[in-house]
Amino acid sequence: MTEFSFEITTESRKYPVYVGQNLIERLGEIIGESTERAFVICDNIISDLFLETLIEGLRTSDIQTESRVIQSGESLKSLDSVKVLYEFLSENFAARSDTVIALGGGIVGDITGFVASTYKRGMKLVQVPTTLLAQVDSSVGGKTGINLKEGKNLVGTFYQPHAVVVDVCTLNSLPLSEYIAGLAEVIKYAFTMDPELFEFLIEKKNEILLRNPEVVSIIVEKALRNKARIVENDEREEKGRREVLNFGHTVGHAIEICSNHYVLHGQAVAIGMVEEARMAVRKGLLTESVLELLIYVLLLFGLPTELPDDIDFNQLHRVIKQDKKVSDGQLTIPMLTGIGRTTMVVDKVDNLDITKVGGNKI
Ligand SMILES: NC(=O)c1ccc[n+]([C@@H]2O[C@H](COP(=O)([O-])OP(=O)(O)OC[C@H]3O[C@@H](n4cnc5c(N)ncnc54)[C@H](O)[C@@H]3O)[C@@H](O)[C@H]2O)c1
Ligand SMILES: [Zn+2]
Repeated sequence: MTEFSFEITTESRKYPVYVGQNLIERLGEIIGESTERAFVICDNIISDLFLETLIEGLRTSDIQTESRVIQSGESLKSLDSVKVLYEFLSENFAARSDTVIALGGGIVGDITGFVASTYKRGMKLVQVPTTLLAQVDSSVGGKTGINLKEGKNLVGTFYQPHAVVVDVCTLNSLPLSEYIAGLAEVIKYAFTMDPELFEFLIEKKNEILLRNPEVVSIIVEKALRNKARIVENDEREEKGRREVLNFGHTVGHAIEICSNHYVLHGQAVAIGMVEEARMAVRKGLLTESVLELLIYVLLLFGLPTELPDDIDFNQLHRVIKQDKKVSDGQLTIPMLTGIGRTTMVVDKVDNLDITKVGGNKI
């Protein structure tokens, strides 16, 4: 059985990442020595699937465990839920040296991370991601966040977890659309940073689509190592290195907003990568053949490459221009320059031909 572990070293913390099969039931063994009490937080879908196994495993390792289940959905990332979770911790006399475990997708990971980073000024945090997006992206890197009515992720912290434990078997129950959407982030790593991963994705396409756990372990590990490299060099997104991870996301976020979030994040990023690669071709930074290869790979995995018909293009262009990355009329955006290569481009918004987005033309 293929199993990986490696360490991430950031300025604020050094922590291990484990990737493999059936790790949920062995979590007690994995984190056992470092904690006596654990507080597990998950949503109602996850609790039916994995909570019992996780708790049993922790108890076998003599870790005293309490759990709190919250309703699934983006509305979970709210100040109201934060309060509920603070109360859960205080009612159970949680100490700073106890461990909070985030069991679930990116939503559970983001709010649990926020709560763990602020309760008693920071408890131990273990991320146990169960969606592909969370496994290859949000569980590593230390960004936590909650939403306000004014916008998503407006409140948050940078707080690296104390360990990340990825059990790829959890992906078996994930709806296919969520799984495929997560693959968009893997394809992003391949095109921006990792030509070997690109080759591997094409070679192992069938196994990946069938969620073969051996092969999925490999792609998750490769993806996370790429993310780790970036986070190690730019933990708090201050040095311009971490922005590479935003490839496809400037246009992608705008698509999410203009579709009222019916387009999943990964699907929006897939279309966003194509549109941003087209910008790069228009600027003479990328050859058309790489753009075509990107479209080919996305289609190979069943991801969309074109904007849905019902998107209002004018609204889309407005939202892109309002993006937080635009300041003084300049948009800073990572541009693909080849497979495994990106460069940060700072340019006048108009020069990036935002109004051509959605035109399906170079
Ligand atoms: N912190 C970061 O760096 C970062 C990065 C990217 C995204 N995010 C955040 O992540 C969130 C999206 O995360 P997501 O895409 O994982 O969505 P999610 O957490 O909502 O999970 C999607 C759905 O799948 C269910 N689910 C989770 N695991 C399952 C499994 N194994 N089997 C069956 N169902 C399962 C969940 O209950 C939920 O209903 C957003 O809030 C986004 O802002 C954070
Ligand atoms: Zn993303």
